[in-house]
Amino acid sequence: MDKFVIEDLTVQYSDGAESLRQISMAIPANSITVLFGPAGGGKSTLLRTLNRLNDLADVVRISGKVRLFAADGSSVEVLDRRTDVIALRRRVAMVFARPIVLPLSIYQNLSYALEMAGERRKPVLDQAVERSLRKAALWEEVKDRLQDPAAALSGGQQQRLCLARSLALEPEVILLDEPTSGLDPISTNKVEESLQELKQNYTIILVPHSIQQAARTADQAAFFLQGDLIEYRPGKEIFLNPQDRRTKDYIEGRFG
Ligand SMILES: Nc1ncnc2c1ncn2[C@@H]1O[C@H](COP(=O)(O)OP(=O)(O)O)[C@@H](O)[C@H]1O
Ligand SMILES: [Mg+2]
Repeated sequence: MDKFVIEDLTVQYSDGAESLRQISMAIPANSITVLFGPAGGGKSTLLRTLNRLNDLADVVRISGKVRLFAADGSSVEVLDRRTDVIALRRRVAMVFARPIVLPLSIYQNLSYALEMAGERRKPVLDQAVERSLRKAALWEEVKDRLQDPAAALSGGQQQRLCLARSLALEPEVILLDEPTSGLDPISTNKVEESLQELKQNYTIILVPHSIQQAARTADQAAFFLQGDLIEYRPGKEIFLNPQDRRTKDYIEGRFG
């Protein structure tokens, strides 16, 4: 089943050329789709378009269609002005490169959004906190110190806490923009492992921090170069046998 269907998406910021040019791609549910390529290719712009974070940026022109599908086959047009952006962002969560933990306890970092949404029942909050920590592969490391400040966690733990926090609101899609760029290899490995678990129940769209990470994680991968989608194929095929010369050159490290 497709989770997103993108047709002819063009995005242009106020001060430059098009950052995405006529992008068309379908993003399947329950798998990891990787967006890779050199800086400036439009990867972050695409992620931000999928949950309308671009509304906050200096976008002068956006055209095309982006449909988000629910399990029952119904869909919403993401770019439609009438679309409920709050509801959309609940369904499509974003995890950023730098973990941004709240100056609160580990527990409160996870219960906060639910409490804001009106949930007051302690057992329900406890359960949600444990469930999201387990999903982010962090539970075992923090279960005995949930009241400690989140800021005391290591960088890798903070990033998994951010992942857990986005899971607490039970989204359908998780967008991750270079989530492991500041992490050591062991923490990176843990994040990648939890993504492999999560893809069974979520749609994951990942901008990796390296080609190696792209190759390790991708069920399908899309190569972006200066606003163009050059090649989009199953991970096993694109990294072993790229069809486009530019994809091949990039994968082989001929340009960065
Ligand atoms: N908020 C913004 N305002 C203006 N230009 C932007 C903004 N964000 C990105 N761009 C431009 O859009 C292009 C694509 O950027 P980006 O989506 O960040 O690429 P990537 O994530 O692949 O590095 C770049 O030329 C960048 O300078
Ligand atoms: Mg980026």
